[in-house]
Formats: sequence, C-alpha cells, structure tokens
Amino acid sequence: MKIAVLKEQAAGESRVAATPETVKKFIALGAELAVEAGAGVSASYADADYAAAGASLGDRAATLAGADIILGVQGPDAASLAGAAPGAWLAASLNPFGAGENGGRARVDGYAAAGIEALAMEFMPRITRAQSMDILSSQSNLAGYKSVLDAAAEYGRAFPMMMTAAGTVSAARVFVMGVGVAGLQAIATARRLGAQVSATDVRSATKEQILSLGAKPVFVENVAGIEGEGSGGYAGEMSPEYQAAQAELVSSHIAKQDIVITTALIPGRPAPRLISERQVASMRPGSVIVDLAVEAGGNVEGAVAGEVVTVNGVKIVGHRNVAGRLAADASALFSRNLFNFLSAFWDKETGKPLLDDEIGDAIRLTKGGKVVNARLTA
Ligand code: NAI
Repeated sequence: MKIAVLKEQAAGESRVAATPETVKKFIALGAELAVEAGAGVSASYADADYAAAGASLGDRAATLAGADIILGVQGPDAASLAGAAPGAWLAASLNPFGAGENGGRARVDGYAAAGIEALAMEFMPRITRAQSMDILSSQSNLAGYKSVLDAAAEYGRAFPMMMTAAGTVSAARVFVMGVGVAGLQAIATARRLGAQVSATDVRSATKEQILSLGAKPVFVENVAGIEGEGSGGYAGEMSPEYQAAQAELVSSHIAKQDIVITTALIPGRPAPRLISERQVASMRPGSVIVDLAVEAGGNVEGAVAGEVVTVNGVKIVGHRNVAGRLAADASALFSRNLFNFLSAFWDKETGKPLLDDEIGDAIRLTKGGKVVNARLTA
C-alpha cells in the first residue's frame, strides 16, 4: 500500500496533506510513504523531517508511481495524477460545486474518466465518530481565530479597554455573524483580546453557546421561519420574512460596531448575503469587516476575494484560504483528519482501508469510471 503526498499546486495554497507525524503513523500501519520533494516547505515541514519519519522523497513522477492512495489538501486535476495505480484513491478537499480552477464538476468527471476513486473529505458526515476526520471543523476553527487577528491588524485602534495616564482607550465592539465552528472561535479569540463581543446566527441553539463564551446574543424573535436548523447541524435557507427582520435588526446593530466578522455558509449554495453596501456605509470610518465566506460568494456586499478593500473608510477584508494563513497548524490538523479517517478503516489482514457505507457513500464522488455521489447525480 503506497501512499503519495503531493506538493500542492493551487495558487496560494500553503498547506500540506501529511506531516512527519502522520507519515510515521501511516508507516506504523504498514504503508509505504512517498512525499514529493518540497511538499511541506510552505507549511514549515522540511524534507529532512519527512525522510527521518521514514518517507521516501522524490519528484512528482516518482511520488505518484504506483501510488494506491494520494493525499491532498486541494484536489489536483486528474491529468496531473498520471502514474498512480489503477483505481487509486484521492483523498482531499475536492470542491465539486466550486467554479474555476480548483474544483467544479468537470474536474470530478476527469477523476471518473481516469479511473480514480475520488473522496471528498469535506463531505464527511457530521456524526460523532467522524468528528476527528472533519476537515471543515479543523480548518474553520483556525480560520475563526485568524479572522480576529486579521481584523486587529487592520484596525487602527486597540481591542481591550485601557486606562492610561493619558486617558482611557475604550474596548472595541466586535460582532460575529454566523456562530458555527469558525464563529465560536472568533468570539472566544475576540473576548481573549478584550473586546466587547456580540453574535448572531439563524440556528437558535447557538444562543446558549454565545452566552457561555461571555458574548451577547443578537437574535431575531417572533418571526415565521425562525428555526434555521437545516440537516446535519447545518443552516437552511431562511424565509423572506425572517431575512427582512434580520436585515433590520442587524442594520441598527452594525452601525455601532467597530469590527464585524462574518462566517455564514449554507452547504451546496452560495453564502447568504448578510451585509449590504448601505450597512457598510453606516459604519464609522476605521471600522473593519472580515468576510470569511468571501470564497463562497461572500456575506458582505463589496468584499473581494483575495483583497482588502476600503469603502468610505471601512476596510473589508477578503483573504482567501484563511486557515492556510496558519499553514503549519492547519496542515497538522488536516493531516490528522486524513490519518484518523484512513486508520479508522484500516484492514489489518489486507493492509488497506475498507470504507463502510455510511461514510463511503457520503464522501465518494467517483468509482469504477463513474460519478457515484448522490449529491452530484441527483
Ligand atoms: P457552516 O460553516 O456551514 O456555517 C457557519 C454558520 O453560519 C452556521 O452556524 C450557520 O448556522 C450560520 N448561518 C447560515 N446562514 C446564516 C444567516 N443567514 N445568518 C446568520 N448565520 C447564518 O457551519 P459549521 O461551522 O460547519 O457548523 C455548523 C454546526 O455543525 C455547528 O453546530 C457545529 O457544532 C456542528 N458540527 C458538528 C460536527 C460533528 O458532529 N461531527 C462537526 C462540525 C460541526
């Protein structure tokens, strides 16, 4: 069983899908590990450390030659996987609903045509036993933390209240919209920095979580369609009445905030628009908005992926791949997600992983030359 770890090819991708730690663990399971030279450099993992962990280092062709499993952060296209064993697995974040170069349906069709069994790690079901395999959680957690640091770096004032001999500096007011994994970490981080934090979500279950972190919940009440819980713990799309009430509530609140962090996503759909141009204009100059959903279409009108734009003195931060801005930790957690996944299914007798139906059916996009995932064939 040969496992290949490739150097990421997507522009701006700094992470790597295995660390020396997980290489060692895979080898202990009986696998042979091949790592493309330089794969870990942008995440601060040196080739020598992979070699010391027992991996062979080589160029891309040598790494791929006869590989049974290919690990990636983002999925490379099928053409760049030539040389892998027939029916090889590709386990990575495959972004099948995405557009452009790093995802999309055509890329999935390419895996099918090449006979690759493509496993979309971001389709991992939200069940207890798969928590340790969930790349969305591990990466969102770091993105939530980093979003607050990015906001602090752009903000021309301090976060905590400070009483100095020259006078008092007041605490920054931070509003977090969307209280999933990233939002919770953003709340906790902003609190640690001393900000006054409030937060909102469409799922009413988050109210308790916001309170438990010492922040103030800001919620729409008494409106039809209030229960925002979709399936699998995710949000659904909200009723028009709800959206109108939310916009009104948020308008009056946003005008008083210094920092707004938006994290709202709806699986398989564009991100919901939470902040309009008019609401941006209502904020004071010097305020900062961080749109963590910018790559999914954006929560904030005027946000531009990969840029920090200034509108009427308000900075809108739209960094791409925010978890990748903490490349070493993001890679360590992503790599453990991949190891936890494959090792949970490792069959000692055959020396290879055998997926069960619940997880296999959820994440398998292609098999035997066909696209097989229900979310893509429906
Ligand atoms: P997500 O990344 O899909 O969305 C982020 C947040 O935005 C969610 O809380 C969502 O409710 C919110 N949102 C969507 N539309 C909104 C709108 N119009 N206005 C305001 N907020 C909006 O969600 P994430 O972070 O992946 O987590 C969702 C839930 O799943 C959480 O409760 C989390 O604890 C749970 N979870 C369970 C796991 C497991 O059991 N294996 C693993 C990871 C998360």
